[in-house]
Amino acid sequence: MIAVNEVHKEYIDGETHVRALRGVSLKIEGGEFLSIAGPSGSGKTTLLNIIGCIDNADSGDVDIDGDRVGGKSKKELTEIRRAKIGFVFQSFNLIPVLTAYENVSMALSLLGVSDAENRERTMALLAEVGLEGMEHRRPSRLSGGQQQRVAVARALIKDPLIVLADEPTANLDSTTGEAILKLMKDINRHRGTTFIFSTHDQMVMDYGDRLCRLHDGLIESDERRSA
Ligand SMILES: Nc1ncnc2c1ncn2[C@@H]1O[C@H](COP(=O)(O)OP(=O)(O)O)[C@@H](O)[C@H]1O
Ligand SMILES: [Mg+2]
Repeated sequence: MIAVNEVHKEYIDGETHVRALRGVSLKIEGGEFLSIAGPSGSGKTTLLNIIGCIDNADSGDVDIDGDRVGGKSKKELTEIRRAKIGFVFQSFNLIPVLTAYENVSMALSLLGVSDAENRERTMALLAEVGLEGMEHRRPSRLSGGQQQRVAVARALIKDPLIVLADEPTANLDSTTGEAILKLMKDINRHRGTTFIFSTHDQMVMDYGDRLCRLHDGLIESDERRSA
């Protein structure tokens, strides 16, 4: 469902050239729960941003659910991203002035979904991620783990094919981080949503059904793990 083929990406910053990805190839099937592991600077964020249609590869191909992403305009990439992909970030990235409910329901409001349907879907999803009763709190009145639960709900509200989570547990203590991973895995099992998450943490990478290790912009290993 996702095919990354010989992707290269270089950042040029004045005199410095950084080869962030040096020929990465990866096939990901629908419904996978995949961890991309590697030390800081290994290219994890660059790879997720390219799969997520946030950034373009310099060369190589990326196919997302049958769409060849290379050569598409910004507008076309935005369309693919909005229709098919949800994001979870390391620092939660919720809108501070909006409640949990508003952070999640906003994407559906923008799509023109009726208030009644929006309310039903958002309340059900917030309950699914364990936030019943907290719908009307702003992020400042939620713990880090609760904020990340809101972010997971926000990523899922449009029922995307793929959720990309870039170091989703990096700002959480290990118990809370594990609870977020368990939540994502439950959702993967229930809904069949494909999850790709990155981490540099051994405990977190072990959660994947499949573990790809990146090092200096290259995949150095790719193994399936028993569930
Ligand atoms: N916008 C940028 N400009 C210049 N260099 C960058 C930029 N983004 C990332 N890099 C460099 O590319 C390499 C890979 O970065 P990144 O994909 O963020 O790795 P990771 O997420 O694994 O820490 C690093 O050497 C990083 O410094
Ligand atoms: Mg990163």
